[in-house]
Amino acid sequence: MISGVVTKGINGIPRIPGDKSISHRSIIIPSISNGICEINNILHSEDVIHTLEAFKLMGVEVEKNEKKLIIHGKGLNSLNVSNNEIYLGNSGTSARLLTGLLSSQKFKSVLTGDKSLSNRPMRRIAEPLIKMNAKIHTTNGSLPITIEKSDLKSTDIDLEIPSAQIKSGLLLAAINTKGETKITENKITRDHTEIMLESFGANIDIQKKGGRKIIKIIGQKELVSNNIDVPNDLSSSAFFIVSALINKNSRIILKNINNNPTRNGIILALKKMGAKISLINERINNNEKICDIEVVNSNLHGVELGPEFADLMIDEYPILAVAASFASSPSIFRGLKELRVKESDRLKLILINLQNCGVDCKSENDDLFIYPSKNYKIKNNFIQTDFDHRIAMSFCVMGTKIGPLNIENSECINTSFPTFKEQLNKLGGRIF
Ligand code: S3P
Repeated sequence: MISGVVTKGINGIPRIPGDKSISHRSIIIPSISNGICEINNILHSEDVIHTLEAFKLMGVEVEKNEKKLIIHGKGLNSLNVSNNEIYLGNSGTSARLLTGLLSSQKFKSVLTGDKSLSNRPMRRIAEPLIKMNAKIHTTNGSLPITIEKSDLKSTDIDLEIPSAQIKSGLLLAAINTKGETKITENKITRDHTEIMLESFGANIDIQKKGGRKIIKIIGQKELVSNNIDVPNDLSSSAFFIVSALINKNSRIILKNINNNPTRNGIILALKKMGAKISLINERINNNEKICDIEVVNSNLHGVELGPEFADLMIDEYPILAVAASFASSPSIFRGLKELRVKESDRLKLILINLQNCGVDCKSENDDLFIYPSKNYKIKNNFIQTDFDHRIAMSFCVMGTKIGPLNIENSECINTSFPTFKEQLNKLGGRIF
């Protein structure tokens, strides 16, 4: 895929797909609930399809009509054993959440994934589950993972790594475990799992103390399905927001976007950089905050962000780094260790690709430094993505200013945003 320079700005109302994190949970939680769940606006991307296929393999009945996906829940303990390995493609969320959920089921499962997912760390979810008595075998700390039938015990768990995927995997194990499991988060991460479990009637108590969160869950209470309206994805919106900010004569409106306060670091960070972003029609749906967002091209300046921002916007650093490359002063983003274990080593790829685009930047102790300039001389216009969708989309946005950039393996964008190219082109992008 080649991304070329935009000539007349980025203008209009893009169609942003449903939120990826909420879409995964919208399949998983209704599948283990009682009753029928109609899901509106679920994301149809490869990652979410892998979660859906996993539950179909385990006997969950799924119907699809033009607008909705309908899930016939089986209750906490009625999933069927899958006779085949469960293949999860590139999806880390599916892998961590299913490892937790399947630890509490009364059958053996094997989870596999693609090359990138098979290199990602899984001890972080296996180890706390093993404390709950789960019988999990990783392959040198990664997929394939074998989960044996076991009898889970409720336990107190202190989460060392700030990760919504680990927390959610544990919650999905705890929901089917007798007694009270207590999970302490030392840093707040996205809370879509807690929100949905609560609204499905789980016996869950959440207390916030300073920057910590204590979740107590009493398991083995059957859940009752609710219908779900999936809001549109803020992480996917970020590529459009930055495209509009850095290109002259731009104005866009994004509709129905998830504005959950555990996820909205990108909006806070860009506003700190002087971005003209307005949140309009703020409202609540299915206990999730949503809003529309208006963005006008802006003169950005650099910013220093501490590690606390990383918890609120870990997926958005590649696109934030692109925005920072067009600011009037340097930026420092601190505490990006977790970026190294995403779909790729994102810190490494941000540096390699920005440097190839002529941007002066460096990393020191997992902090990223960007020194923007007015004119960039491209050194190599082949963008290395390592099949990482967010790196691919971020450098498409870079291409709107300094292109043409040739984005390698751009089909990886299908993991989260299959209509990205069509939508950006509709607004003035020149991707071919
Ligand atoms: C996700 C949590 C985050 C995020 C990922 C989706 C989720 O991962 O990077 O894209 O849906 O829970 P971590 O929890 O590992 O930080």
